[in-house]
Amino acid sequence: PLPVLRSVEDIRAQVAAWRGGGLTVALVPTMGALHDGHLALVRRARMLADRVIASVFVNPAQFAPHEDFDRYPRDEAGDAAKLASAGCDALYAPTVRGMYPPGFATAISVGGPAEGLCGSFRPQMFGGVALVVTKLFLQALPDVAVFGEKDYQQLMVIRRFTRDLDIPVRVEGLPTVREEDGLAMSSRNAYLAAGERTRVPELYRSLIAAADALARGAEVDGVLTAVRGRIAEAGFGTIDYVELRDAETLEPVAAVERPARLLAAAWMGKARLIDNVPVVPA
Ligand code: PAJ
Repeated sequence: PLPVLRSVEDIRAQVAAWRGGGLTVALVPTMGALHDGHLALVRRARMLADRVIASVFVNPAQFAPHEDFDRYPRDEAGDAAKLASAGCDALYAPTVRGMYPPGFATAISVGGPAEGLCGSFRPQMFGGVALVVTKLFLQALPDVAVFGEKDYQQLMVIRRFTRDLDIPVRVEGLPTVREEDGLAMSSRNAYLAAGERTRVPELYRSLIAAADALARGAEVDGVLTAVRGRIAEAGFGTIDYVELRDAETLEPVAAVERPARLLAAAWMGKARLIDNVPVVPA
């Protein structure tokens, strides 16, 4: 069975034992309710290091009080079984009290790629992500950590603060893993009702069509407006954003002159879906 580590002491001892044997270590941070997207990160991590630790921690610091922290899906036994079958070597599942003991009083403020997009609609999120990922990095001190492009802005924020804070961990990104109809896999897809599930692939389809048009030089505002129209038509309610950004800095761009990224967030019923696609100039 998969070893489960609960404390900072546990994870440090495990990593020290591996390092003593000359082995390298990869970390895959998650919030659990694991799906094939998460397991693809574990498989990639296996190619990058000798041993792989996955963390499962629903991080209260990145949820606002009105958000879904309490109802976020949790299934540690199921997660452990999936991780073992994907070739993970240990599960790190710390407690909230262990990560944030009474008296905890430190925050990390992130700018640059954290500005706009999800940063505008979930203002507490990227600071909370930076805090927990920094803690996980310093607790495990892995050689490499693997994150998904599904959360593209998060990946760019993590790359930025890791560099800015001189944290000696290599950050690797993995392309989004999708269902057969194109929907990006997400733990939050569990919030979709059956009738909604058939409509949501339109988000990805409209982004792909838009990226294709943009790559051929179509006018940006017109394309973004068309995406909004298509996803509203498909039954999405509030559209938080549909935006074109620089692929690296995430600065807004008005034309596709270098690699860009098209990113969107929209609500279908109780579920907030995000997705993004590359836009490469032709
Ligand atoms: P979570 O949403 O569980 O995602 C964990 C990791 O899995 C992230 O790197 C995310 O981008 C990746 N991921 C999720 N769905 C994916 C998909 N369909 N294809 C590829 N990768 C996918 O993101 C978080 O947790 C948290 O914010 C965390 C980084 C763990 C900090 O709390």
